[in-house]
Amino acid sequence: MPTVVFVLPSGRRVAVEVEPGTTMLEAARQAGVDIEGACGGSMACATCHLWVAEDWFDRLPEATPEEEDMLDLAADWAPTSRLGCQIRIEPALDGLTVRVPRSSLLSDG
Ligand code: FES
Repeated sequence: MPTVVFVLPSGRRVAVEVEPGTTMLEAARQAGVDIEGACGGSMACATCHLWVAEDWFDRLPEATPEEEDMLDLAADWAPTSRLGCQIRIEPALDGLTVRVPRSSLLSDG
């Protein structure tokens, strides 16, 4: 099963092994990383915003126009910003690493 890594604002790294098809929002919850994800993955909030590690960004399927529109509302937008609920983890993404903006966390992990 693929493993993905969350880097918290403190610098702490949290790795979690997930079933293929899991989203990064779901993976964060499985890992105990307290990402808000207020709309539950329906692309209506941008509180699941993540910064994808640069060397991984181009390996993800491109964001849809709807995701781009929602990312425009994200606090702390950066060039590698994506919505966690829209990244689906496939075996080819084993090792995917993202940084978690403090603004996406309900509590500091
Ligand atoms: Fe709301 Fe991802 S959880 S847009």
